Amino acid sequence: MEQAMIERLESSFNLLAPRGPELVDRFYAHLFSKHPALRPMFPSDMGEQKKKLLASLVLVIENIRKTEKLEQPLQDLGARHVGFGTQAEHYPVVRDTLVSVMAEMAGEAWNDQLTQDWNGALDFVSSVMLEGAESAVPAGHPN
Ligand code: HEM
Repeated sequence: MEQAMIERLESSFNLLAPRGPELVDRFYAHLFSKHPALRPMFPSDMGEQKKKLLASLVLVIENIRKTEKLEQPLQDLGARHVGFGTQAEHYPVVRDTLVSVMAEMAGEAWNDQLTQDWNGALDFVSSVMLEGAESAVPAGHPN
């Protein structure tokens, strides 16, 4: 990842991080209102889920300068998502929803460059998660 892009990702996330709980609240509200079919995949009480999603975004940004440290945790996360019923085509939906909520919250501090940067960062996260998903052993087939 290019240095300037890393700096834009960090500074835009730092701007929103103090409003992290609001970010994940809005994210799931948008996700479920635009894609109601996804709601039953998640627990009815979303409290813990919101904290976990925020923690995973923090982890990504904290390690964005040393992405090799993200490989194992994101592959493991992707492998667990197979068990949650997540499919490859869900990833761009999550990416677009997250980016639009961040843009909305950042207001005038947002721009097209940031949309491009965050699409790139989330495509990277998704691709590592999907690598983990591919190597996940399907339930019932231990060999
Ligand atoms: C940027 C990509 C994503 C990140 C960073 C992410 C992050 C997380 C985290 C941290 C958890 C907590 C559970 C665990 O650690 O094993 C989780 C659970 C979950 N995620 Fe994701 N996720 C992503 C994409 C998706 C997508 C595309 C879907 C599909 C709709 C999805 C659906 C779920 C579901 C259903 C759960 C489990 C809820 C439960 O039963 O407790 N996630 N996700």
